[in-house]
Amino acid sequence: MQASHIPRESLEFAGLVTEVMSDERRATITWHDGHQSIFHTIGLRDNCSCDSCGDHSGGHRFFELNMMPGDLANRISFDGNLIKIDWLKEPHSTVFDAAWLRSHCYSNQERARRRNKPVLWDAGLTKCLPHVSYPAALEDQEQLLAIYDAVRTYGICLLEDVPKCPEETEKIAGLLSFIRETHYGRVFEIVSTANPAVIANNPVPLRPHTDENFREPPPGIMIFHSITASEDGGGKSVMTDGFKLAADFKVQYPSEYELLTNVPITHRRFIEGVGLRAEAPVIGLDYFGHIREFRLNERTMGPLDFPEELLEPVYDALSKMFALSYDSKYHMSYLLKDGEALVFDNARVLHARTGFNGHRHVRLTHVGTDEFYSRWRQLRHELKGDINLI
Ligand SMILES: [Fe+2]
Repeated sequence: MQASHIPRESLEFAGLVTEVMSDERRATITWHDGHQSIFHTIGLRDNCSCDSCGDHSGGHRFFELNMMPGDLANRISFDGNLIKIDWLKEPHSTVFDAAWLRSHCYSNQERARRRNKPVLWDAGLTKCLPHVSYPAALEDQEQLLAIYDAVRTYGICLLEDVPKCPEETEKIAGLLSFIRETHYGRVFEIVSTANPAVIANNPVPLRPHTDENFREPPPGIMIFHSITASEDGGGKSVMTDGFKLAADFKVQYPSEYELLTNVPITHRRFIEGVGLRAEAPVIGLDYFGHIREFRLNERTMGPLDFPEELLEPVYDALSKMFALSYDSKYHMSYLLKDGEALVFDNARVLHARTGFNGHRHVRLTHVGTDEFYSRWRQLRHELKGDINLI
């Protein structure tokens, strides 16, 4: 990072460095806490963000990889919290903020420290559901950040004291991100009606599921805004941590886990004017095997389309996963009161509902995950000085 772009928060890291060494391939930085970071010189040269190389965080790129010198001989030095590298085969120097470098150290220790660690939960979350006052979040950025942090860590957050008027649904969405509009429109009314076209409007109980797996990507962050709770106490929201299901499934059924992390499951919605279809595994993993996504919905699965030897094993694995997801020990139950809203990550948390007989009105909208976490990163940067997100 170029000296002129150093975030003000990084000043607290001044004096972190005790020693720097470098050869043509690798630079070693020793920090005050004894940790040593090794940076490859190709990466250091690539991340030079001076005016002539371009600041990648803003999409500027003037120095390209095919311009990389074959010889990265250099001279490294540090002064306070600035680390300077003079490249000996070019008339060029790169200056890094030490805090930025430490925040991007790719040792196993630092990568493990930085990695998001979702807190897995089961029915016990009923007693400690993360919650934030909506009026407070409108006024106070720290409270707003608490919503994002809860969704990032637990996948779910309850908003309290939300105005009961229908107009507020879109305002909640606007506070957190941008509404993702679909063929249902911007907001979907969940109310019991006679002969409903959509099962959400039938007052029967609903099994745990993630929504709209026939889209790519499915709706990201869901918002259930309760306008009127059912008078009979029915219509409880039943929430399940898909990451917890996946983790337990891996232990109980390792070979089935292998199937559900790899084979794509078809989901589709084919009704008048709509022909949606998408395929993805139940459990999405990142390159390192960490669970990053969960998609499960028995009601929208299409006919499986596999080589014949996979059909029965996949049905067997799916049956086991559905059985696990229906186990009440995983279910966090909460009856949304009038003027409360649940915000949750549809790529992680399954929702379900108990049946009801009264008049229940919930407004559903969803916002894009990318913009949601864009605002989260900005707040983490502004309020907590997080620079490893840049
Ligand atoms: Fe649903």
